[in-house]
This record gives sequence, C-alpha cells and structure tokens, in this order.
Amino acid sequence: MPDVINAPLLEIKDLDISFTHAKGGVKVVNKVAFSIPRGAIFGLAGESGSGKSLTALSIMGILPGGARAEGSIKFKGGEILNLPSEKMRSIRGKEISMVFQEPMTSLNPVLKIGYQVKEALLAHLPLSKKEAQDRAVRLLRSVMIPSPEQRINDYPHQLSGGMRQRVMIAMAIACDPLLLIADEPTTALDVTIEAQILDLIDTLRAERDMSVLLITHDLGAIARHARTVGVMYAGRIVELAPVEEIFAGPKHPYTIGLLESIPFKNKRGTPLKPIPGSVPPPWGLPPGCKFSDRCSFAIPACRQEEPALEEITAGHFSRCIRAKEMRWTL
Ligand SMILES: Nc1ncnc2c1ncn2[C@@H]1O[C@H](COP(=O)(O)OP(=O)(O)OP(=O)(O)O)[C@@H](O)[C@H]1O
Ligand SMILES: [Mg+2]
Repeated sequence: MPDVINAPLLEIKDLDISFTHAKGGVKVVNKVAFSIPRGAIFGLAGESGSGKSLTALSIMGILPGGARAEGSIKFKGGEILNLPSEKMRSIRGKEISMVFQEPMTSLNPVLKIGYQVKEALLAHLPLSKKEAQDRAVRLLRSVMIPSPEQRINDYPHQLSGGMRQRVMIAMAIACDPLLLIADEPTTALDVTIEAQILDLIDTLRAERDMSVLLITHDLGAIARHARTVGVMYAGRIVELAPVEEIFAGPKHPYTIGLLESIPFKNKRGTPLKPIPGSVPPPWGLPPGCKFSDRCSFAIPACRQEEPALEEITAGHFSRCIRAKEMRWTL
C-alpha cells in the first residue's frame, strides 16, 4: 500500500510532453521530475518557452489538442496522468485548481463576479443558493476584496487588474483545493500589486495548509515565497534545490544567468547581464547539454552527451557536468 501520509502531495516523474505534427513529433517537456510536500510552495522558473505552462496543464489534465503526455503524475499517492476525463473533472477545480496569467481572459465579462464565484462553488459542492451566496461573500473577503457584499454585483471590467486577480484566486480556492497552481499570476500587474497578490497566495497557503506550484519568471518572488525551486530550460529541469541553496550557491550556469539578469540580485549596482542568445525552438536544440550553445563555461565534452540531473550536494540537483568542479559565485 502506498505511504499516503508521508508521500508528497504531488509527485511528478519522467514527464514527457510531445506534440505530433504532420512531419512527426516534437518533444517539448523532457523527463521532468519534482515533488511538492503538503503546505509547501514549489517555484518553477525559466525563460519563455521552457515548458512551465505545459507541465502545469498536464497536472490539471487540460493539455492542448495534439499534446501527448507520458510518465507519471501522482496526487495523494494515486496516478492522475491521463485519467479518464470524467475522473479528472472531479479533481480539477476541487482538489487541484489553477490561477491563470490574465484574469480578463479567464473571467466572463458579461457575468457578475458573484455569479462566477458561485458557479465555481456549485460545480463541486452541494450548496443551496443562499449558502453559495454567503460563501462567495466570505471567499471574496478572504482574498481581501473590500466591501464584498457590494462588489459581488460588479462586472469584471468594473474592477482593477489586481482585484480581478483576487477574484480569480477566490474562484480557485472556492472548494478548498489541496494544490493551487499559479501560472504567472502577476505578470499583468504592477510591482506593488504583484507583491500583494503573492503575499495573499502565501497567506492562504498557510491558513489552509495548501500546496502551491508557483510558476514565474520572477526569481525574487520565488526567493520570498517558495521552499524549493526548479529551474527549467528547453523542457528540462536543469537545477532543483531548496530555495536558500540555489540563491546562495547556484550549480547550473543557466541559473546563474537568470540570477544575473534580474534586478533583485543586483545589490552591488553592477549592470544587469542578459543571457546571450535566446532559447532555441524544441526542434533546434544542440546535441549534448541543451544550454551549451549559450553557456560561457561550456567545454567540448558538454556538446557530446546530455548530462543527467545529478545530486551535487544533499537535495541540490544540477544537469551540468561541471557542477562539482566549479564554484560559481555571483
Ligand atoms: N499548442 C501548442 N502546439 C505546439 N507547440 C506548443 C503548443 N503550446 C506550447 N508549445 C511549445 O511548447 C514549448 C513550451 O511551452 P510552454 O507554454 O509550456 O512554455 P512556458 O515555459 O510556459 O513559457 P512562457 O514563460 O512564455 O509562458 C514551447 O516551445 C512552445 O512553443
Ligand atoms: Mg507559460
């Protein structure tokens, strides 16, 4: 019998995601593996196109048409990858829910927000209309929307971007999920509001003992909120470590590049250094290490064989053959 009590809430192993085209298949997520304990925030970082959203969508069971996932995603000890759609529907929105990047595309512009929060509740819970109404108000209050009794009658366009994102979070937590996936929940917002939304997610996590998969380009946000971080490049996890470890001593040149390119780490006032080049498309990756063509530390051996994700120090994994030999500091 699986050890459900000590098992992580979510455990992903060997996750591959491919798209099939007329000319053949292309793998965009490759052997991704990580786990999230109960009540913890796992931060997933990486440049655009690295496979973060597809990984999230595969957990939700809502990959786009043409995508095929293989491997294993265990939730509460049970396999949920490629579950029959009606079984997945009973988990999605209830035990696992997601906040998307742009609330205007996820909220229905012609329906009052109260109605939309109630819909999220009634999709899974047997509540009367009155109970759903009361609970919707409470939910809006829990995401710190002022005067929720009145706001419930607003349409999405009457709210600011930050308030709309709070409504999305209220809908996502309506049925007390065990896992909340937040995919770039703040990219459309300004910096102050971004910080407030992330603080809110963290507060809700603590109150509800909820686990969170926080996907973001913002390593500063990960540093403040996550317990563990996975860095993705070209569909692979290239570094995985407890958050304080990765910031104190990154063990993959790509992570170093990411850290050097953000203002957050730039305390000494040194100019920000963008990583040279851009992520190649999945069909144009170099042989060997997929980062080797952009890496200033690459040696000929890096271009021969793709490195495995190896444990360099306890709990700190890197997909770089030079990780043990080098001591990289920022
Ligand atoms: N529907 C699709 N059909 C074909 N390829 C796709 C599709 N959706 C995504 N991809 C490809 O899969 C790869 C990973 O995409 P994904 O959206 O997961 O990246 P991401 O890390 O979330 O990027 P971003 O930071 O821009 O959101 C990209 O190369 C992308 O072009
Ligand atoms: Mg994305």
